[in-house]
Amino acid sequence: MVQGLPSPPPGETTYRGYERTQTGHSPTQSGTEDRELTHVGPGTPCGEYLRRFWHPVTLSSQLNDLPLAIRILGENLVTFRDLAGNVGVLHRQCSHRRTSLEYGVIAEHGIRCCYHGWLYDVDGTILETPGEPEDSPIRHSLCHGAYPAREYKGIVFAYMGPPELKPEFPIYDTFELPDDEMIPYLLDMPCNWLQVTENPMDPFHSVFLHTRISRAHFDVSWGAMPIVEWHQMPDKTGIYLTSARRWNDYVWIRTNELAVPNFTQPPDIFQNPDRDKFFTRVGNSKWHLPVDDTNTQIIGWRHFNDTIDLAGKGRRDAVGVGSYDAVGRVKRTYEEQQRVPGDYEAQVGQDTIAVHKLEHLGKTDTGVAMLRQLLRRAIRNVKKGVEPPKPLKNTDGYIPTMAGDVIINVPQTNRTDEEVRSDLGRRIGAIVLDSMPLAHGERQAEIERRVRNEILA
Ligand code: FES
Ligand SMILES: [Fe+2]
Repeated sequence: MVQGLPSPPPGETTYRGYERTQTGHSPTQSGTEDRELTHVGPGTPCGEYLRRFWHPVTLSSQLNDLPLAIRILGENLVTFRDLAGNVGVLHRQCSHRRTSLEYGVIAEHGIRCCYHGWLYDVDGTILETPGEPEDSPIRHSLCHGAYPAREYKGIVFAYMGPPELKPEFPIYDTFELPDDEMIPYLLDMPCNWLQVTENPMDPFHSVFLHTRISRAHFDVSWGAMPIVEWHQMPDKTGIYLTSARRWNDYVWIRTNELAVPNFTQPPDIFQNPDRDKFFTRVGNSKWHLPVDDTNTQIIGWRHFNDTIDLAGKGRRDAVGVGSYDAVGRVKRTYEEQQRVPGDYEAQVGQDTIAVHKLEHLGKTDTGVAMLRQLLRRAIRNVKKGVEPPKPLKNTDGYIPTMAGDVIINVPQTNRTDEEVRSDLGRRIGAIVLDSMPLAHGERQAEIERRVRNEILA
């Protein structure tokens, strides 16, 4: 261990580092990616693990009268809505002589290949092989590759794993909130899925990238350094963190989580810690979809309702395919990228596939290290035949989540503020966790009651 430095992050035995005498010409400054965590194609360990989950594959608004070529987990696919209204997610190459079904014709039931007219239903059943003799056995002897698809609130999802292991479609508690408008969006990130997915486990980037480095992307209060703790979810489905900031007389406790492999939902990015708030929920629910090893799509919903974004900074009309209502989420001109870098630049800038061997993780990267450990264990488990754990449900029947903000008036005292915030982060995090089984309205009332009685009283 290096003298004078705190203990290394979890999963690391030491701070890896270049010697102080090292020069730019050193041969050690190269390396390859961690294939176990970053390669997603069929047959790869990570790819097989990722195929145990439902993933968003496109927005409903992208399905029109023409088929849509998509690429998911390194597989070339085609998706479409047939004239009967059913959505198909099929292998892109025709089973006959492999021309692309993106040039096919959408039919009443399924899609017809342009080359010789074979007709495929949305489940891959071959309905017609029109050039073949009437009694040809071909269509009865094979089935075209197809994945179960489901549309939900403007997003098309698919399950690409073994049919017998198909999990229930996950509906999280934040998807069914009253008076909440959810607008689907899709953003391209030309880099590996893991570096995009690690980002929410690194709340310190909000202090620097989003506030202090160029200008405040959301609100200046994001520039206050938080006290952060990371924990494994009790049902082992991911990691949640608490971050505790001080802003004037308020302490702002944010809880956030990452449901492995790739679902996360930051609470309100335009949060302003200027009054008491008791668990206002999320501004964004999203998946980081691995397109292939070097491309990712962020697909999810922006939430709009009366409990978040009280200053009205969000813009519904700016959210959609390739667009988002916060700076630095999509590719801009090179000069704009350099002058006001955002999440896109920081994450894509880590390389097409970030090389972990060349990093130097510190204490603030504890969540990133925990996530890698959790994923590695899960990937190895699937390889051994141990399937990922199933999430718990609340009394509404939804999967409860941790993400939200609790903001309370706690003026500074003689106690060191780090101690105060650390204590509040831990206690409020525990209250948010304890209340997970409750239905939405009851949970917020319970969090407010306990925070008032146990902390503010
Ligand atoms: S290649 Fe598709 S029907 Fe022949
Ligand atoms: Fe960010």
